[in-house]
Amino acid sequence: MIVEAKKDKNDSVMEEGNVYVPHVMRIEKVIQETQNIKTFHFNFKDETQKAQFGFKSGQFAEYSVFGIGEATFCISSSPTRMDHLEFSVMKVGKVTQAIHELQEGDEIGFRGPYGNWFPLDLIQGKNLVFVGGGIGLAPLRSLIWNVLDNRNIYKDIVILYGARSPADLSFKYDLEAWEKDDRVNMYTTVDRGDDSWTGRVGLIPPVLEEISPSPENTVAITCGPPIMIKFTLQSLEKLGFTNDQIITTLEMRMKCGIGKCGRCNIGNIYVCKDGPVFTCDQIRNFLSDEF
Ligand SMILES: Cc1cc2nc3c(=O)[nH]c(=O)nc-3n(C[C@H](O)[C@H](O)[C@H](O)COP(=O)(O)OP(=O)(O)OC[C@H]3O[C@@H](n4cnc5c(N)ncnc54)[C@H](O)[C@@H]3O)c2cc1C
Ligand code: FES
Repeated sequence: MIVEAKKDKNDSVMEEGNVYVPHVMRIEKVIQETQNIKTFHFNFKDETQKAQFGFKSGQFAEYSVFGIGEATFCISSSPTRMDHLEFSVMKVGKVTQAIHELQEGDEIGFRGPYGNWFPLDLIQGKNLVFVGGGIGLAPLRSLIWNVLDNRNIYKDIVILYGARSPADLSFKYDLEAWEKDDRVNMYTTVDRGDDSWTGRVGLIPPVLEEISPSPENTVAITCGPPIMIKFTLQSLEKLGFTNDQIITTLEMRMKCGIGKCGRCNIGNIYVCKDGPVFTCDQIRNFLSDEF
């Protein structure tokens, strides 16, 4: 399975002119997901730009707080729902701290969409196993809603989502919707429970092995912290998944997002242009030390 990195001509409204000049967007809603993660609903200030904009699940953008700096986040909403866009941010440093201070009505800069995307054409007609950890559900939820909005062209769907503790579970409203959806087999797990938690306790890889999805006509798509991905890949292998049946997204520190600055390269691969979506085959080739 090959993940195409090519773009259609109309994919971006940023193809012409100075690619570093961001669009001005307005924050429409802020959701406090966990103590250190917030989701932002946002929209183009300019209606013409909104009408021209398109993206694909898995792509990312550069978001700027004017006067502070820029940072990279995936677009976590689905292209099947273009009323507004969404991104989710874990507070880790300078820019993410500034983004967390933004309120409804505030403005942010946005340039993108960048990178490749989940290969919808190749996963059609297949069983899908989504495995997300922590904020790693952000890019997956774009694809999950995309798939659910076209449910009849996919087969069985398993979603496994894990977080460190019940308080660290993001996107609880999505988890609830998928729990209720009888077209989805939803599993939520936490590393450590608490007094109020009556759900599953256990790390993602052993839970995945317990669920034991069949690899036949199935594609597994995973995103999360590197350590989770490492052990999830091992579990998928144990279950009989081959490298071309596993898709993941990678995060490297980025600056330009468009293959100019060389900040994100691993060997001759630029994660911003050649990724962030890769098959396990590709990852094993150039990340042998980490994975
Ligand atoms: C393609 C892609 C998609 C991403 N999507 C999301 C997303 O949806 N939500 C989200 O919260 N984050 C996402 N990230 C990570 C996000 O870009 C960084 O956390 C952010 O840039 C940190 O900015 P900062 O200025 O607040 O942190 P800084 O002040 O620059 O750094 C704070 C700390 O975080 C570490 N750090 C910063 N960036 C990274 C990184 N990329 N990888 C590892 N360590 C890092 C630094 O080493 C430092 O210890 C994504 C990254 C990439 C490349
Ligand atoms: S972020 Fe600049 S080359 Fe990839």
